[in-house]
Amino acid sequence: MDCAIKNGTIVTAERIVKADIGIQGEKVAAIEPGLKGDKIIDASGLYVFPGFIDPHVHLLMAIGDLISSDDFTTGTIAAACGGTTTVIDFTENYRGDDLLEGVKTRRAQADGKVAVDYSLHLTLADATDKTLEQLSLLAQEGYASAKLYTTYEGLRLQDGEILRLLAATRDCGVLPMIHTENNDAIAYLTAELLRQGKTAPKYHPMSRPPLVEAEAANRVTILAQLVNAPLYIAHLTCRETLERVQAARQRGQKVYAETCPQYLLLSQDDYERPGFEGAKFVLSPPLRDKSNWGVLWSALADGALQVVATDHCPWYYETQKVRGRDSFAKIPNGAPGIETRVPLLFSEGVGKGRLSLQRFVEVCATAPARLFGLYPRKGTIAVGSDADLVIYDPDKEVTLSYKTLHQRVDYCPYEGRVVRGYPRTVLLRGQVIVEDGHFIGYAGQGQFIPGKAFAFQS
Ligand code: URP
Ligand code: ZN
Ligand code: ZN
Repeated sequence: MDCAIKNGTIVTAERIVKADIGIQGEKVAAIEPGLKGDKIIDASGLYVFPGFIDPHVHLLMAIGDLISSDDFTTGTIAAACGGTTTVIDFTENYRGDDLLEGVKTRRAQADGKVAVDYSLHLTLADATDKTLEQLSLLAQEGYASAKLYTTYEGLRLQDGEILRLLAATRDCGVLPMIHTENNDAIAYLTAELLRQGKTAPKYHPMSRPPLVEAEAANRVTILAQLVNAPLYIAHLTCRETLERVQAARQRGQKVYAETCPQYLLLSQDDYERPGFEGAKFVLSPPLRDKSNWGVLWSALADGALQVVATDHCPWYYETQKVRGRDSFAKIPNGAPGIETRVPLLFSEGVGKGRLSLQRFVEVCATAPARLFGLYPRKGTIAVGSDADLVIYDPDKEVTLSYKTLHQRVDYCPYEGRVVRGYPRTVLLRGQVIVEDGHFIGYAGQGQFIPGKAFAFQS
């Protein structure tokens, strides 16, 4: 073997086993005791997890003249240091844009620059014949999922367009990932708040309360039922939306849903921070009442939620978030999290008895790999899989701070929080890219990984 990882406890979604892992080239070649290798990594007392997958990140994302602060290199180095070896970003095309051009542009921004492997969700911002033709072409080239929006200028779709796109994605094996918030309700509530002079960041959650999200989730699940299409709900935040998703499942629909660490660990109280600090937490859908934490943790544990992604979308507080000083509606939406997801989920989930080790691996690696067509190449440890591995010290304590994290942004939403458990060594396709918390790989080491078509059985 080129490399043997010895004496670790291997954790996959299916099993926990003490064995060695043999790596040949880029692949796992053997899993058994007593392996030898040219290079030996001792994992005694440590877990060995599959490389984690973050299926929802926004690197180098433009909103007007602002660009999110992490690019494909800085963001993927941060991902690697946090144990994530594959990220899925999005094409950045808007209504009327050419989808093939959108893919070309995004590939040019990422190829040769990424430090971990990556894939792309298409963005479907209209439902013209041309877009549908291009969708079907791209589905055959490894673009196996697409984001659809019910809000945001230039992205939001009408119900008729959503129906057309759901039928088209169903036919070509592309999993639609939907941002569910009712655009008209947001517009009305925002205008009312601003009219009353309520401009501070703390009014952001009032402009997009839980029912705004739940209504859109309810509507899109019913639209999906009309055309018998599967569906993935992005960044689910609250019990109201979860109830609508569960109702659709009871009707027999295939509906999957992700949540994010910020909805499990932060709350609308964070908008009350002094001065303009609440702007750091302006993201959409917004942070909710703390009573949702238990609902979401239980849903993750019992399988009602399938995935934990980050929705990493960082903006500098000092120079970008401040754009909204006179109105919460002008604050660029999003927050950083690509590097902290795995340590937070391990510490707060496994460490506090809310998630089993296997379920932790399932929601942060295996389920995203399966849903987005990367499994079994990614998302598990098996003979023939990519040797993307995270050797994890369950006892290492780290105090999270923007000063020491690799994310390129001037704050951390979890500043000062202590996590127990941290990646020690991270391998990408057999190469060590993180050692003792230090990135030792290189930009360009990551590859585009095509997604296989979503196998939907009605
Ligand atoms: O506030 C957020 N989440 N910004 C990123 C774009 C999105 O809706 O996912
Ligand atoms: Zn979204
Ligand atoms: Zn997002």
